[in-house]
Amino acid sequence: MVDQAAEEITRYHEQTKHHVNRYARSPGYMDWKNQPNPFRVFEGTLTIPLPLAAQNPSLEHMALYRRRAVSGEPFSLSSLAGFLELSLGLSAWKVYGNSRWSLRINPSSGNLHPTEAHLVLPAMKGLEAGLYHYNPLRHALEQRAAIPHDLWRQITGHFNTDGFMVALSSIFWREAWKYGERAFRYCNHDAGHALAALGFSAALKGWKLSCLNGLSDDDIETLLGFDRTAWEPLEAEHPDLVCFVQEQNGPAVARTLPQEVIRAFADLIIAGKPNRLSPNRDDWQIIYRTAEHCRKPRTEEARCDYGDKPFFTHPPAPLTATDIIRRRRSATAFDPDGSIDQERFFALLDKTLPRNHCPPFDVGLGAAAVHLLLFVHNVPPLARGLYFFCRNPEDLQALRKAFRSDFLWEPVTDDLPLYLLRTGDVRQEAIEVSCNQEIAGFSAFSLGMIARFEQTLRSTPYRYRHLFWETGIVGQVLYLEAEAQGARGTGIGCFFDDPVHSLAGLADNTWQSLYHFTVGRPIEDPRLTTLPPYHHLKRNSDAV
Ligand SMILES: Cc1cc2nc3c(=O)[nH]c(=O)nc-3n(C[C@H](O)[C@H](O)[C@H](O)COP(=O)(O)O)c2cc1C
Repeated sequence: MVDQAAEEITRYHEQTKHHVNRYARSPGYMDWKNQPNPFRVFEGTLTIPLPLAAQNPSLEHMALYRRRAVSGEPFSLSSLAGFLELSLGLSAWKVYGNSRWSLRINPSSGNLHPTEAHLVLPAMKGLEAGLYHYNPLRHALEQRAAIPHDLWRQITGHFNTDGFMVALSSIFWREAWKYGERAFRYCNHDAGHALAALGFSAALKGWKLSCLNGLSDDDIETLLGFDRTAWEPLEAEHPDLVCFVQEQNGPAVARTLPQEVIRAFADLIIAGKPNRLSPNRDDWQIIYRTAEHCRKPRTEEARCDYGDKPFFTHPPAPLTATDIIRRRRSATAFDPDGSIDQERFFALLDKTLPRNHCPPFDVGLGAAAVHLLLFVHNVPPLARGLYFFCRNPEDLQALRKAFRSDFLWEPVTDDLPLYLLRTGDVRQEAIEVSCNQEIAGFSAFSLGMIARFEQTLRSTPYRYRHLFWETGIVGQVLYLEAEAQGARGTGIGCFFDDPVHSLAGLADNTWQSLYHFTVGRPIEDPRLTTLPPYHHLKRNSDAV
């Protein structure tokens, strides 16, 4: 079973590679009349508008990563609202001519936003204990089920501390509408970005997220009532993950839920009809088949020891943590002369290393399996060239053996696992492997995320998705760190897979590049007007 799943997933992966002369299968045009609605609504549910943050917490940049020695904010409707606003809420509206579109705190491939969030919440002032869907357009909760007092007591007893659960799911059609078969990859990148966004926002509240990594996808569907929801064909939400959110100084919690709790959720009455997202949908069958092969069974709860390496705290970022989160945007063009100095580059790379008790990697997805192949263009005084950043020292020897034998592997600094592979101008190579996108070459640096691939699939096929989640988490760190250093980033899902591998000398599936990213000094598009994220809502009342 495992072997067959690994084979099928590998087939999907091969089939959805972009080649220089052949892109992965997609519609090839924009079918505007069937463009999916980026906002899910569960019609007929009780909707609870959430308050918007009256003022932003003025915490310094490092509060994103280093938990403060303070108690977390008490769980209330207003703290929960702030948590969601600063993770999955809207960040702005853009206007160009007659077009208007919203952006969010979390980025998304093509701004299509396949990721949805659901919450399992205790009773609080103004809110009944229940299962809720978060609607970022209205900044509101939609109640899908009420949770009886006894069930909530059982949940608190199980975790032995107060808290709530937040879950992510993906609607594949939203991405497949534009990107066709490769869309399953993008949905999982986006889930990773969203997970990191939740982790950062939780940290600012003095809360921490723990992934319930023992749960199966069946468990999650039961928990979220997906098995009792009348989905439109091809518009169903697919379960990604569930996290428990607790006060940051609280006890280490169980990473699963007892079967009797799942059974109790199976008995809840689920309200709400999912809104229809498109008049018509295409059936990209390979995505749904692959998703089946990636379904996660119940597993042992996993914990991981990442060590406690101190952070680079220099140079200090002039922005507050909240400003960094709110300002995050994707650059669409870069100043080719724009540089990022070496010190800032090192500080940025350092944040991508997992550490115990530090967001976003301590959420508990397992050991780091993703490394960075860096195209350094303009990071003075560092020489231009190809570099490698090894996020898990256990992989270093295997990587060195797999990569081209003429690479130098010269350590750059004692403080980081960063190696020079070869010097030279790599702008053109970076552009070419990133689907000829100039943003990969005219930046200060760009990179490919190289993942331990074949072995992961052979042992745990469901972790195919986790690899993409990890790249999304790394991507979210890069987005925020770029802002913190006065620069800007952009995720790059469109790249030519095998040309990247050839460049590195990778000949088989042991390692695969799964996501690209670029960072530099942005050039703004003066044609666009920006509007505030919630100008369309009358404060605290639902005006949409
Ligand atoms: C997984 C992923 C892949 C992306 N791929 C590309 C890409 O190949 N090229 C590009 O210009 N932007 C890419 N982007 C940036 C998105 O277009 C951008 O996030 C989206 O338009 C929303 O804008 P914002 O990030 O400013 O909120 C990607 C973003 C993500 C999260």
